[in-house]
Amino acid sequence: MGEATSYDAVEYPASSYPTTHPSHLAALAALHGLAAPDPQTCRVLEIAGGDGINLAAMAAGLPQAHFTSFDLSTAAVERGRRVVAAAGLTNVDIVLGDLLDWADGAEGQYDYIIAHGLYAWVPESVRAAMWRLVARVLAPEGIAFVSYNAQPGGYLRMAVRDMLLHALDGLEGDARMAKAHAVLQAYSTQREGERLTQQALRAVAEPMALKNDGSLFHDELGECYAPQSLVQMASAAGSHGLAFLNDALPKMVTDGLPGEALDDAEVVRAAQASDYEAVTFFHQSLFVREGRAPCRVVDPAAFGHLLASAKLERKSATEFVHEEGPFEIDDAAMADFLGEMAAAWPERLPLARFAGDAEKQAGVLELYQNGLVQLHAAPFPGTTAPGDAPEASALVRAQVALGAPILFSLDMRVVTMPPGPRHFLSLMDGTRSREQLAADWGKSEFDDQVSADDAIAQLAKAGLVLS
Ligand SMILES: C[S@@+](CC[C@H](N)C(=O)[O-])C[C@H]1O[C@@H](n2cnc3c(N)ncnc32)[C@H](O)[C@@H]1O
Repeated sequence: MGEATSYDAVEYPASSYPTTHPSHLAALAALHGLAAPDPQTCRVLEIAGGDGINLAAMAAGLPQAHFTSFDLSTAAVERGRRVVAAAGLTNVDIVLGDLLDWADGAEGQYDYIIAHGLYAWVPESVRAAMWRLVARVLAPEGIAFVSYNAQPGGYLRMAVRDMLLHALDGLEGDARMAKAHAVLQAYSTQREGERLTQQALRAVAEPMALKNDGSLFHDELGECYAPQSLVQMASAAGSHGLAFLNDALPKMVTDGLPGEALDDAEVVRAAQASDYEAVTFFHQSLFVREGRAPCRVVDPAAFGHLLASAKLERKSATEFVHEEGPFEIDDAAMADFLGEMAAAWPERLPLARFAGDAEKQAGVLELYQNGLVQLHAAPFPGTTAPGDAPEASALVRAQVALGAPILFSLDMRVVTMPPGPRHFLSLMDGTRSREQLAADWGKSEFDDQVSADDAIAQLAKAGLVLS
């Protein structure tokens, strides 16, 4: 048993992070003309992965790949192990460990290394240990993902944090959290005669006011808060033989692909300038080993090997609706491709049809940047055509059995579901034929307004069915 930490005392809400998935990271490498390890058989390490659920979600869909998560919190590690054991996943290890020990003692190599939500919330000694560990165990063609609160947005968040800490001085436990919510609520309410600076800070406080206790406690009120600039990150990476590749957040993809042949230092400088312009708050920076010479203009050859998916509704030849709202596409070939992806969702379609067409490739990249299309290096990990004895993801069946409020799909979506479909999911263990499923469903306490076949199809669309 390790020493109790603040993460043992207050649970951090776990989630799955689709941008960290090897299939996404390999796709980004390919855009730069870089080979990346095959997501289907890769080795992934998550540093400070909490309960490891992010890796468990990947592991459920990539049975030939191997996943290791370590964390300092005994409570988080035990929580994650319970889920993984209940799911019977043998390709994921969730272990108790201190980054300070791993940095200089870890063995082996990893193709993808993830450090999500750690770097800006730990002291300098732990930040330095992260770079030592990445430099030590990243495979030659590997990719490291590091998310952090960024500058200059971090300066604004720091001001709100200082204001909060001032207001909470002397308070502990529930009283402290209640006051934190009340202060944020008041601060995020518009005041008369507000100056622009007050408006800016209110915009920062607003989303904080909506946070649950776990996030607020750790993200905003944690002991340490050290937002980083991209230049600082690239410089720290450089002193460990690592170089900036790109950002994993689609909207920032031009950070690493400015479309002209800049050298690595110029790329970072230009991306930093756009951070100042956009007042960036958050980065998901990717790093590779120095000397890999990523191409800074999309590699047309690699592009043709990628896959794309899009969750859209086609309204007419040129009109579509995305969850963010409606949009139109003039280019008929692109519109038809979007239509095909919409019909096939969540399946992924090859981009080979646009191989060698620079204009179409730029168009797809723009759709990706705007969040309308996702790019992948590996096929959809589930099925949209379940067989006669459908099998739901082992992870979601375990989550249902353990009463988890949210489920994580095979393609890393967060899914909430009422008790009826949850029960149906638990029946879909690969041993029951469709006929048997319908019979057992009929015997259950849940209303069977939806036929078993329709329920199976809907769950498959939600990314919850393996075969
Ligand atoms: C904000 S949580 C993020 C958890 C997870 N990566 C996520 O994004 O959901 C930060 C995590 O870092 C872990 N941590 C902090 N210092 C650590 C260290 N020295 N070694 C390992 N884990 C550490 C904490 O226990 C906690 O689980």
